Amino acid sequence: MKHLWTQIIAVSLFISALFTLNCVAQENNNVLISSKETITVDPTQYYKELFRPQFHFSPEKKWMNDPNGMLYYKGTYHLFYQYYPEDIVWGPMHWGHATSADLIHWQHKKIALFPDQLGYIFSGSAVMDVNNTSGLGTKENPPMIAIFTYHNMEFEKAGKINTQTQGLAYSLDEGETWKKYEANPIINNTTLRDFRDPKVFWNEDSKTWNLVLVAGDRAQFYTSNNLLHWKLESEFGQNYGAHGGVWECPDVFKLKVNGTQEEKWVLLVSINPGAPNGGSATQYFIGDFDGKTFTTAQKEIKWVDYGTDNYAGVTYNDAPKGERVFLGWMSNWNYARNTPTTNWRSAMTLARTLSLLTINGDYVLQSKPVEQFKKQLTTEFSKEEINIKKGSEKTFVYPKLNQSQIQFNAKNKNLKLIFLNEVNDTLILNYDAKKQTFVIDRRHSGKVNFEKSFGEKTHSTPTPNLISKNIHFEIILDWSSIEVFLNEGVYTFTEQIFPNQPYTKLTIQSTEKQEIKNSIFQSVKGIWKNSIFPTPN
Ligand code: FRU
Repeated sequence: MKHLWTQIIAVSLFISALFTLNCVAQENNNVLISSKETITVDPTQYYKELFRPQFHFSPEKKWMNDPNGMLYYKGTYHLFYQYYPEDIVWGPMHWGHATSADLIHWQHKKIALFPDQLGYIFSGSAVMDVNNTSGLGTKENPPMIAIFTYHNMEFEKAGKINTQTQGLAYSLDEGETWKKYEANPIINNTTLRDFRDPKVFWNEDSKTWNLVLVAGDRAQFYTSNNLLHWKLESEFGQNYGAHGGVWECPDVFKLKVNGTQEEKWVLLVSINPGAPNGGSATQYFIGDFDGKTFTTAQKEIKWVDYGTDNYAGVTYNDAPKGERVFLGWMSNWNYARNTPTTNWRSAMTLARTLSLLTINGDYVLQSKPVEQFKKQLTTEFSKEEINIKKGSEKTFVYPKLNQSQIQFNAKNKNLKLIFLNEVNDTLILNYDAKKQTFVIDRRHSGKVNFEKSFGEKTHSTPTPNLISKNIHFEIILDWSSIEVFLNEGVYTFTEQIFPNQPYTKLTIQSTEKQEIKNSIFQSVKGIWKNSIFPTPN
């Protein structure tokens, strides 16, 4: 089968590959979820290429990295992103553009920003200047304003320091067409090589525009009353957080602590390298921000996601009902350029809602899929109680695993989950209750050799915040990714996977007596025109 699969991929530019998986009915100790599924891979059809995510955002073609300019306005979520339209590796950066009414289904738009004589268009953010404080539009037709980093390649080649400055562009037709501001750059610097990724937002408390950007391994905070002229107010970072690499893509926003009236500010800072499991990841700080200075009592380093593939994530400006919605780039700079896809590269995480809670008196940032994701789910199997005897296992035969969500509650005891396909690729999740660690092992999950660091090690995370008697597991698998949310996102793990065939079986094992309650297996509807798996009407 493996040989056939490889052959078909090699010659299948115009041929559809059809795999019929016949599953044995009710094997010993096995739970059969659906007996027969047809899986087609057809690179000639829209979003049906091998490994193409079926319900995550990915560009139609070519290279994508960070999410940029995330803004909600008049019923539309705008997503801009780092984009190179000529190749599937990083190159001269543009801003790609897509829109969505629900953060689930996306419509591709024309490229928004092109590089110019000041440089490539690196990461940044966008706001609606509703009161036309910039004067670049009118009160009746306010401008959408993007503030981004210019990266000057000529300067870089000449070995100059001041390669990065901040530029502004505006749109008078809700993001359809853009003009660069004629007095760019709006924020300059002469001493730092790494000076980028501005996040701009309206601060309702201090009634000013705020902007945070990274300068080396520090965050800098600015104020403005017209979005054009900015004043540096303060710097944060010395002796705080992880410093294994350059700081990138900051964001700062206020959240209420769940169930209280207390408000805290959250500062997100991506870092590359220096991630807990190698390469790039996003850390966070909980503290206070008075519009000028960020302060925190936090001593330890905290991460938004403990998997390897959630980077450069930031949040939406002006999302309805005060919701704080996060999207990350589902990759890692260690191997982003080498992943085994053919005509596009990489995807975004699912849109996630962020919230704050306290566990043992400590603030924890929680993230889970936005509520509207539930509309994509169709229940295929559910069971109130599944008992696993000490040292035994239960297998679920489910050919649609690579487009599914699985949820259950388990005792806070050892638990191992093994995803398996017909060619014996295995993806293993292991929770060790005594050691209080969660491990993802993708070393034999499928294609892993495209870059050494991808499948080299298991990824282990200490999980001291799993203090409840039962642990809620939510696992979302797409064709080339897994997202795990433990206890509603107290811990989140996002990783890319490239199985040679979709996984068809899930085995749940335990070295202790386990009781699995309220298990539910659901298929996830594809969001593009067609889906790899035919979805029920
Ligand atoms: C983060 C990053 C940003 C930069 C962009 C360039 O992934 O390195 O700091 O603006 O990518 O594409």
